Amino acid sequence: MDSPILKQIALDRGKTVAQVCIRWVYEQGACVIVKSFNEGRMRENIGIFDWELTDEDRSKINELPESRCNYDFFVHESGPYKTVDELWDGEIIAGQCNQTAFVSSD
Ligand SMILES: NC(=O)c1ccc[n+]([C@@H]2O[C@H](COP(=O)([O-])OP(=O)(O)OC[C@H]3O[C@@H](n4cnc5c(N)ncnc54)[C@H](OP(=O)(O)O)[C@@H]3O)[C@@H](O)[C@H]2O)c1
Repeated sequence: MDSPILKQIALDRGKTVAQVCIRWVYEQGACVIVKSFNEGRMRENIGIFDWELTDEDRSKINELPESRCNYDFFVHESGPYKTVDELWDGEIIAGQCNQTAFVSSD
């Protein structure tokens, strides 16, 4: 939310940083689960369907450093995923998505 790049994209599109982030995830074909108790932010979070990021926006976002959660709690020697590498199947590369998983809104 503090990223100057995301702030600039939000300013350029007339959107909030949260909307830019949610829209980007949506454009990756992923499911976004948002939660807010604030009516204004609820409206904000749903207002991502009637506009899109530009190619330049997407490429700037793709350059942002990526950090991933700690997935240790999904990994156990007796479970289906014995290492983090097994859990993380490699389909999602920094800033990109597996296009076979992309679902178009068209
Ligand atoms: N995190 C998980 O591992 C997980 C796993 C399974 C299911 N879920 C479900 O997924 C949903 C979301 O979980 P979460 O962990 O992401 O929720 P969270 O972090 O507990 O809550 C979302 C936070 O984002 C803020 N927020 C929402 N819209 C915003 C906006 N437009 N701008 C700025 N801040 C905004 C909310 O504040 P305000 O309320 O003040 O707007 C709230 O503080 C929940 O229904 C949860 O049950 C989560």
